[in-house]
Amino acid sequence: MDPYKNPFSPGAGALPPELVGRNDIISQALLGVGRSARFMSSQSMILTGLRGVGKTVLLHTIKNEVEKKDGLTLFVEASEGKTMLGLLIPVVRRALLSLDRIEGVKDGVRESLRVLLSFIQGAKVKVSDVEFGFDIGPKPGTADSGNLEADLPDLLEALGKAAKEKSKSIVLLFDELQYLPKAELSALIVSIHRIQPLQLPLYLVGAGLPTLRGMADDAKSYAERLFIFKTVGPLSKQDTASALEQPVGKLGVSFEKGAVDIIYENTRGYPYFIQEWGQQSWNTAQSPTIITKQDILDSTEQVIEKLDESFFKVRFDRLTEAEKNYLRAMAELKESPSRTGEVAALVGTSSSGRGPVRDSLLKKRMIYSPSHGLVDYTVPLFGDFMKRTVPKIRKVSRNKREKTGLESE
Ligand SMILES: Nc1ncnc2c1ncn2[C@@H]1O[C@H](COP(=O)(O)OP(=O)(O)OP(=O)(O)O)[C@@H](O)[C@H]1O
Ligand SMILES: [Mg+2]
Repeated sequence: MDPYKNPFSPGAGALPPELVGRNDIISQALLGVGRSARFMSSQSMILTGLRGVGKTVLLHTIKNEVEKKDGLTLFVEASEGKTMLGLLIPVVRRALLSLDRIEGVKDGVRESLRVLLSFIQGAKVKVSDVEFGFDIGPKPGTADSGNLEADLPDLLEALGKAAKEKSKSIVLLFDELQYLPKAELSALIVSIHRIQPLQLPLYLVGAGLPTLRGMADDAKSYAERLFIFKTVGPLSKQDTASALEQPVGKLGVSFEKGAVDIIYENTRGYPYFIQEWGQQSWNTAQSPTIITKQDILDSTEQVIEKLDESFFKVRFDRLTEAEKNYLRAMAELKESPSRTGEVAALVGTSSSGRGPVRDSLLKKRMIYSPSHGLVDYTVPLFGDFMKRTVPKIRKVSRNKREKTGLESE
């Protein structure tokens, strides 16, 4: 079928043609935003889920909805090697300047801009473009201690106050939160904790891998009660069917009976894979009005090849041989999540303690621990990929184990 008309959108953060199965999350987030805009107490929200489930898409959707209602949004994405300050300072500056431009009293916003200047001085970061277009100085004693956990709450409080003065609501959308170092995540949590009882119109929607929940809890034990944690999971069979049928239906195309079931079996409801299978089966279809079961079967090999070469391989290539072996062993086990003891037995190491290989996989965020003694992949269907790519598990001999430090795995 005509690839120019293909409605599907595989990609990172690419809005799907039909956002299905997420109404609860969206309406709960918008309720929180709406309450905070009315200066009422509301718990901020954190979305967690595996790679490609649609977290970024949700942040963008919430952003669009907030902007439609004239709210102000700040979107930031953490990444390895970037400091949170470098990300936040420019967006906070932009938000304060746009509040400053709104008709009305200027004093409060200017005061908040002074806090931003103090914050920048305290943080001793070089921010090249901090210009306001008018002359103001910092506000000594506020947000300038150089201690992020003390200064960030000052800054975000100042931002919230400026928004309140201009009757604007602000939503901070923070993606890939699992990349924040502990001190930065702590400071962010403390800031939200500070702002919540003040009933300022500032709301946070964060997103990250499943590890984030434990990280937040580790950073501040009250994080569990401070936020609404929402798990973004795979779509149900029915939602998978809607995600495929609705976009093509709008273009006068339908799936043959049973065709979407095959896609569900292959994708197990994971949104990114649904978009890939949808896109390829559309392109493969010969008829201008129907996508057949055969089209899906014909597309499958190409989709898997594409996923193996891109989505899975970029992650695989960052692994050491021992890490690959560990992930391959996880794939061998029937149950998911895998028991660490059983994985250790398969790779030929003892199960006691925290092994260095497992630790490095946790650090690389290839796996996470849903609960004590269990591990799972952060990338959906990674086990199937490992089975396709690495035919056999390598058992580590005792000698080698001692040399490579795998003993306590
Ligand atoms: N509810 C949905 N229905 C259908 N497709 C969806 C849905 N949510 C997301 N998608 C599709 O899934 C893909 C991945 O979405 P997104 O990039 O938001 O995932 P993510 O969870 O942020 O992944 P990562 O952890 O890798 O950043 C996109 O192609 C998007 O169009
Ligand atoms: Mg994302």
